[in-house]
Amino acid sequence: MAGLTISSFGKCTHAIVRAIPNSLGQLALRQEKGKELDLARAQREHELYIGVLKNKLGLQVIELPGDESLPDCPFVEDVAVVCEETALITRPGAPSRRKEVEEMKRALEDLQLNVVEMMDENATLDGGDVLFTGREFFVGLSKRTNQRGAEILADTFKDYAVSTVPVSNFLHLKSFCSMAGPNLIAIGSSEAAQKALKTMQQMSDHRYDKLTVPDDAAANCVYLNIPNKGHVLLHRAPEEYPESAKIYEKLKDHMLIPIANTELEKVDALLSCCSVLIYKKLEQ
Ligand code: GLY
Repeated sequence: MAGLTISSFGKCTHAIVRAIPNSLGQLALRQEKGKELDLARAQREHELYIGVLKNKLGLQVIELPGDESLPDCPFVEDVAVVCEETALITRPGAPSRRKEVEEMKRALEDLQLNVVEMMDENATLDGGDVLFTGREFFVGLSKRTNQRGAEILADTFKDYAVSTVPVSNFLHLKSFCSMAGPNLIAIGSSEAAQKALKTMQQMSDHRYDKLTVPDDAAANCVYLNIPNKGHVLLHRAPEEYPESAKIYEKLKDHMLIPIANTELEKVDALLSCCSVLIYKKLEQ
């Protein structure tokens, strides 16, 4: 199994994001109907998120234009899985999201990554179901992601072990977990989240540290390893999830950046959903 990326886990030079179309308010997919979304506020929160990546962390941010015919298009994480120099363009589980891949493919090709497309019509995979730990992949088998999708991911990233985890109570695997550091899994407290963690622990020959937060949605954070800044963690703001924020605030080695994501959460999008993070070595 590869271990090459452990010391460089979270390193990142570029981020791909996509603007929020007006259609998102009414038409974005959501598990729970009837939650009113404040579109202007969602756009402000999204701009702040992009501003953090660009201005605070100094990433090169590629901002794809929103598309009114693709209301879920800002959730770029679902359409590409990037690891080292390879990018897998997914086949999203929701048919209404399939065309989102086109703009992403162009952006990844422009970055000269090795782009692989998931062409098999029996496969589905949303990037929100993919947890890369730096040592291995866990893939949630959910309403959006199937076994064939996980197999294609395993074929694409052959250096890494890939294990599957059943996900039933949530949209995606990363609806209740994420990496908060090179060896640290952030996990929600619900019974379903804890059960999924146990499954992951049983399937891995590595022992990860865990950071348990009271709120499942707050367990979705974004870890980066940035030169001159070190461990950086974007996590949900104390105004939204005060008890979970208190847990993050105990991470003394991390530069902590609280981010509000009140509106997009109403359409099941959490912090990691809105960016694809990429590390490109400088040309010699
Ligand atoms: N609204 C995000 C999704 O359902 O894919």
